[in-house]
Amino acid sequence: MSKQRVLTGITTSGTPHLGNYVGAIRPAIEASRSGDFESFFFLADYHSLIKSQDPEMVQRSTMEIAATWLALGLDTDNVTFYRQSDIPEIPELTWFLTCMTAKGLMNRAHAYKGAVQANEEQGEDADHGITMGLFSYPILMAADILMFNAHQIPVGRDQIQHVEMARDVAQRFNHHYGEHFVLPKAVVDDNVAVLQGLDGRKMSKSYGNTIPLFLTEKQLKKHINKIQTNLLEPGDPKDPDSSAVFQIWQAFASEQQTAEMRQEFANGIAWGEAKKQLFELVNGQLAEARERYDELMKNPAEVEMVLRRGAEKARSESREMIARLRHAVGIRPLA
Ligand code: TRP
Repeated sequence: MSKQRVLTGITTSGTPHLGNYVGAIRPAIEASRSGDFESFFFLADYHSLIKSQDPEMVQRSTMEIAATWLALGLDTDNVTFYRQSDIPEIPELTWFLTCMTAKGLMNRAHAYKGAVQANEEQGEDADHGITMGLFSYPILMAADILMFNAHQIPVGRDQIQHVEMARDVAQRFNHHYGEHFVLPKAVVDDNVAVLQGLDGRKMSKSYGNTIPLFLTEKQLKKHINKIQTNLLEPGDPKDPDSSAVFQIWQAFASEQQTAEMRQEFANGIAWGEAKKQLFELVNGQLAEARERYDELMKNPAEVEMVLRRGAEKARSESREMIARLRHAVGIRPLA
């Protein structure tokens, strides 16, 4: 049996932070190294236009995310790493799928429903500020997935519904035009950590409580010092399991280091000391990658070249796929 194909996209609308690293980037790179899968990772820059109409931000985020994955050791000989907008077959497939997608299915998408609900709560028109991009977002995502016939789609919980929609659309297409698509499955890993941010809520760019992944040492120290703690004094026993400091420690530490820190909390380690140790741990693990990251950020041409090579690899499949699909739907030469 051929290898299972794993595919996931990263929307280019922000700067990678520690939560992205432990929750998505690190496990994806590890899985790709195991050689058990055929991996496709891509920068979802078309998706970013739904959230951000700031061109400089879109470009900068694309550069930062690409440099991050490469700096962390993504082996682009073993995975297919590309930028969505370099694959013109994706928007074409999006249209084929759009014509096979029930509008009623899209009405049920969480992101769209959430936006309508927010409008209603504020007494606005239901459609206020909602673009067709937001409404059709799951179809573009379905095209990303179905284009490469991926089996497994590692995503966060908020994205499960979108993968299920991709599956529905694929089924409908297959039923009407013949078996062209693999039916994809969302894979949610309950073992990966979901980090708390500076304020104790989930670390997320939408809450503005993140610790960016590649800061200078000085800034990293500053951010770690800003993590909210309670008023317990040095010597007072502290609860590790409700502490963001401990939780981030755990995401970076070995089992033994975690057990040791748990004991330190019981012994009443001072918050300042715990944060100092956390800084040393995180900084130590990121220092080498940070150097590579800084180098890459100074060499956009190098990153551009890596992405174009990835796109060539991806397009050797997407060109064939779109040719078959064009034929299937009746878009064919006349003679
Ligand atoms: N929508 C996803 C997110 O915001 C990103 C994404 C785009 C994606 N296309 C995808 C994820 C295809 C998995 C598969 O997180």
